[in-house]
Amino acid sequence: MLLIVANWKAYVEDVEKAKKLRALGKRLSAKKRTRLVLAPPAPFLSLLARGPASRLSYAIQDVSATSGGAQTGEITARAAAAAGASYAIVGHSERRARGETDAVIAEKLTHALAQGLTPILCIGERTRDREGRYLAFVREELSVALEVLAPKDRGKVIIAYEPIWAIGKTAADAIRPTDLTEMVLYIRKVLAELLPGKSAVQAQVLYGGSVESTGVRDLAAETGVDGFLVGHASVDPAMFSALVRALW
Ligand code: PGA
Repeated sequence: MLLIVANWKAYVEDVEKAKKLRALGKRLSAKKRTRLVLAPPAPFLSLLARGPASRLSYAIQDVSATSGGAQTGEITARAAAAAGASYAIVGHSERRARGETDAVIAEKLTHALAQGLTPILCIGERTRDREGRYLAFVREELSVALEVLAPKDRGKVIIAYEPIWAIGKTAADAIRPTDLTEMVLYIRKVLAELLPGKSAVQAQVLYGGSVESTGVRDLAAETGVDGFLVGHASVDPAMFSALVRALW
């Protein structure tokens, strides 16, 4: 089963569009081969998550590093869970670009886990280099975020490998399957050092960065990836539908 997380970012700004995409998500949820998670902008979360239970799940795009109280504008993990989220995207590169540090990300993971949300931790290098410095960078991002968590909690975190150089482009700019295979292996190797027992084997590793219907099947086949975090292609009904169907 492949997990597909539809990261709507701030592309969706009206209720009608949000409802249409949810209706499409419901239709695409029927097949067991894929499991869909919608990550709408926070104000639409409770509206969308309400209603009859379905195979669709919901994610909040970010959670507060605070425990609430006098924190104007913050959306706590508890509020997100109450609004219907079961997942929380944490450490997306677009949040990191606004100054979010690894320490803040670790706090966010702690809050999300404490409220029963499954965190989707985004990591990924800005550029690639021949010397393999990007590998050390990814290792550092993973270690700093996970080390502060209790060992039993570390395995609950879904990892989304999203190289920044591949985000927001088109399918031709996404990672190549061979490079993804290598990265998934590498991430599992680092996880094996951080996670207790054999839990690294079960850890879920997603890929994100210009995932579209073209090429997605190759990215899913034999790379060892457990699913995808999809940005722009998740808010275009035709593109999203084609993408999910390509994986059936
Ligand atoms: P993209 O975004 O699919 O538009 O590249 C992915 C992401 O940033 O999560």
